[in-house]
Amino acid sequence: MWGGRFAAGPASIMREINASIPFDKRLWKQDIAGSKAHVAMLAQQGIVEGEDAQAITEGLNRIAAEYEANGVPVNLDLEDIHMVTESRLAELIGPVAGRLHTARSRNDQVATDFRLWVRDAIDEVEAGLLSLQRALVTRAEENADAVMPGFTHLQSAQPVTLGHHLMAYYEMVRRDRSRFADARVRLNECPLGAAALAGTGFPTDRHATAAALGFAKPTDNSLDSVSDRDFALDYLMAATQASLHLSRLAEEFIIWASQPFGFVKLPDAYSTGSSIMPQKRNPDAAELVRGHAGRIMGCMTALCVTMKGLPLAYSKDMQDDKPPVFEAHDLLALSIAAMTGMVETVTFRTDRMRGLAESGFATATDLADWLVREGGIPFREAHHITGRAVAAAEAAAVPMDQLPIATLKEIDARIDERVYAVLTVDASVASRQSHGGTAPSQVRARIAQAKEELGS
Ligand code: ARG
Repeated sequence: MWGGRFAAGPASIMREINASIPFDKRLWKQDIAGSKAHVAMLAQQGIVEGEDAQAITEGLNRIAAEYEANGVPVNLDLEDIHMVTESRLAELIGPVAGRLHTARSRNDQVATDFRLWVRDAIDEVEAGLLSLQRALVTRAEENADAVMPGFTHLQSAQPVTLGHHLMAYYEMVRRDRSRFADARVRLNECPLGAAALAGTGFPTDRHATAAALGFAKPTDNSLDSVSDRDFALDYLMAATQASLHLSRLAEEFIIWASQPFGFVKLPDAYSTGSSIMPQKRNPDAAELVRGHAGRIMGCMTALCVTMKGLPLAYSKDMQDDKPPVFEAHDLLALSIAAMTGMVETVTFRTDRMRGLAESGFATATDLADWLVREGGIPFREAHHITGRAVAAAEAAAVPMDQLPIATLKEIDARIDERVYAVLTVDASVASRQSHGGTAPSQVRARIAQAKEELGS
């Protein structure tokens, strides 16, 4: 493609290090779409003859059909998807193929292709996250009243409901979706026509190509157009954050599936057995979601480091932008699908959750609050009195609400029988009516709103 100035061909190592076709063949659809928009604009502007543009368009359609049927041929000599397609076009329609690259460079071409690809990737992730939200809301609604221990420091803290716990993940995914939607808005400007770095002397119409490719507008600075990869970083950062949420949920499922917890039975479909220990049921899918989050974060770091020292405009380092984005996207799409499947089909052992909520003295705060409310005792003092009640319950190995009234009165004479109304886990969660609290009425109200947000 640049043979005019060169006397010798590339070293075989050069051929290998230079080629991006082994991975950027994934951009073929976007590359064809970009070329078709470009040549249509060239014809509209009188830069190429209508007849030539038609031959080029037909050739591109034929190549698309070939790629669809047989895949993209990987020829390292042709370096990348742009050259593979252009050389095939020349085979099909002859020298007129050479007119396609007028007023364009591979620098703006690849920036355009990659934006189009990431835009599709965002749409795919958005759809996946929406399904995950639906699954979370469905399971939360089924379990809006199911009491479980709420934890801080992974120590039993106060009773909450399983519905409330699941809806916490709904909120995380809602923020993830807004990050992807936001990234999509910023991404949606078209670099095509910036040419190599400085723009072009041909009378092009960049607004026309931008519109044809579904972009809101053309980018406004040719140097930035060919050297900017913020859209890929935005994607990777949003993907990283989403994967952190998936990983936390995966981690909870792993802990919950362990024998000491026994809060869930993970579906067979997402577990594996052991070749040696017949009793085993391993949470492999959840563990891989947790593991993939680390790899996705690694992809984000990789592209950050690639970009951080690059002077304007294009440098070949930027060819390394695609593998981390492709890898992160594949891992994220799989992780979302696996988590959605697990949320939809996991068996929650709510009897076991309730039992542990009752045994962990999780209503101690309720006793302290009652002393403040009914006895007019300052909270710090109430906290101290309650600590003694917890010690008594621990010594007697009974839940708080089974401590005899005599024992409680011995600890503090201001306690009377009415206290039992707040010592059960159900009374505890029902009392947490503050906005966003765990009371089933609050959780159901949020679920109703969430369903509206999801259009279901
Ligand atoms: N394969 C290249 C990439 O992915 C295309 C752009 C090449 N431009 C250049 N001037 N060498 O970044």
